[in-house]
Amino acid sequence: QRIFVPGDAAAVAMGADDVASAIDRAAVASGRSIELVRNGSRGAHFLEPLVEVETPQGRIGYGPVMPEDISGLISSGLFEAAPHPLCIGNPDEHKFLKPQIRSTFALCGIVDPRSESDYARHGGWAGLRAALAMAGEDRIGAVKTSGLRGRGGAGFPTGIKWETVFRASGPEKYVVCNADEGDSGTFADRMLMEGDPFRLVEGMAICGVSVGANYGYIYIRSEYPHAIAAMERAIIGARRAGWLGQAIGGSDLAFDMEVRVGAGAYVCGEETSLLNSIEGKRGVVRAKPPLPALQGLFGKPTVINNVLSLGAVPALFAQGPDQYQALGFGRSRGTMPVQLAGNIRYGGLYEVPFGITLGELVETIGGGTASGRPVRAVQVGGPLGAYFPPSLFDTPFDYEAFAARDGLIGHGGITVFDDTVDMAIMARFALEFCAIESCGKCTPCRIGAVRGQEVMDRVIAARQSGADVAADLSLLTDLCETMKFGSLCALGGFTPYPVSSAMRHFPEDFQRGVRPLP
Ligand code: NAI
Ligand code: SF4
Repeated sequence: QRIFVPGDAAAVAMGADDVASAIDRAAVASGRSIELVRNGSRGAHFLEPLVEVETPQGRIGYGPVMPEDISGLISSGLFEAAPHPLCIGNPDEHKFLKPQIRSTFALCGIVDPRSESDYARHGGWAGLRAALAMAGEDRIGAVKTSGLRGRGGAGFPTGIKWETVFRASGPEKYVVCNADEGDSGTFADRMLMEGDPFRLVEGMAICGVSVGANYGYIYIRSEYPHAIAAMERAIIGARRAGWLGQAIGGSDLAFDMEVRVGAGAYVCGEETSLLNSIEGKRGVVRAKPPLPALQGLFGKPTVINNVLSLGAVPALFAQGPDQYQALGFGRSRGTMPVQLAGNIRYGGLYEVPFGITLGELVETIGGGTASGRPVRAVQVGGPLGAYFPPSLFDTPFDYEAFAARDGLIGHGGITVFDDTVDMAIMARFALEFCAIESCGKCTPCRIGAVRGQEVMDRVIAARQSGADVAADLSLLTDLCETMKFGSLCALGGFTPYPVSSAMRHFPEDFQRGVRPLP
């Protein structure tokens, strides 16, 4: 009998390791033979640790299970999947999971992330097999047809990026996976690497085969030890099964990869800093051009894609690009793994086709705030994303629709705040964050973030003293313009988004006198 207890870092933080040990001990004590699988998370964080028991009728889930629940669960028949107040029935039918359209995360929480054969049994490697059977240019054509855009945040068409590298001259090319998921409130990259690591290996191998690269690097932040271990194990497993190395999948093509661990700088998620970091240099942004697609890692043509972009690739090759393209909204095709975080009742990962509105995500799926107070603001796209008030909740989740409202969907992170939030403090936080994380290469960001923080300190102090803040607010607006248009990379260039949106949508928080809390 297989029992699943997630080994995902979020579940572990909620006590999953203790839950797993308690189940193991109870099985030994009762003389039962069980196979304890440390699966990935299904993404319903409010149910973690979610324990699942395999039965002839499918899996039955219990959650959230705390270590102290185990003895009661065992005595009321956990191993028999007996009814219990924590029983949620078949997890696939749960109201958070059932409406999702899972493509990239189809197997996350389902497969055993340590087992290559389990991945293969669930249809893994079908995408790579299909890619190997195609002619060179057809592979690029498939990615272009799918309409896949970069999921790291910028939304650049993946097929065009791959084509640029494919057409670049030279025998040596690289695939680099950006797994330096630095945005606060985002966790999709981590979840995929921990829960379905072979998918990322497969996506990278398809990319290598498609563009003519035979080596890849996965750059993972050091704060993700579980993901690092999962990817390292998966690379060894894939090599053993013949999907990495020479003659992959029985073809005449070679592709292999390794994990590189970052040292904790937010800016190393910017692609050119990341390349410097892999090369053993300081993580400072490089000027573009040249584009990494033409002169990237060690000066060679390089595809740099986010975990979610490469993780989307196996399904679109396995099922055909038209199926992927059929989902979505406007120019945003396919599905987006949205991450619901902050002060939210039902937080977690929700994969859905583009086009769903922000209000549906926050209110209907997320259930509003965890505190039970009204939602006042949501920040979309990480710490450099704009704040949206509920009056903009009709905005469809789509790159262009968010840009039209001076926002960005970024890496798909949504952080919710209730009506106790002070938006002037949040604006200051963005500038402080930028000042701390700036690589220092360009003036608007290096100096601007520090000056902006000082201006915000004056504005915040003036709310008590009653001093006039009009000149400071005008200075801040100017500073935001300078940073937005004058910075070399997105860190300095996007810091104005949270600041300007807070000023625009919540002007009362920047005025004399403190807004009375409701
Ligand atoms: P960008 O717009 O400069 O470039 C996007 C990608 O397209 C890059 O890989 C670039 O090299 C490539 N590209 C552009 N033109 C090309 C061409 N003609 N041929 C081939 N490739 C081409 O954006 P950037 O600075 O790389 O990323 C900014 C985004 O990063 C923001 O939207 C932000 O949301 C996101 N971000 C994500 C974070 C995360 O944790 N995932 C953290 C911070 C920011
Ligand atoms: Fe470095 Fe900031 Fe300039 Fe980016 S915007 S290059 S992080 S100083």
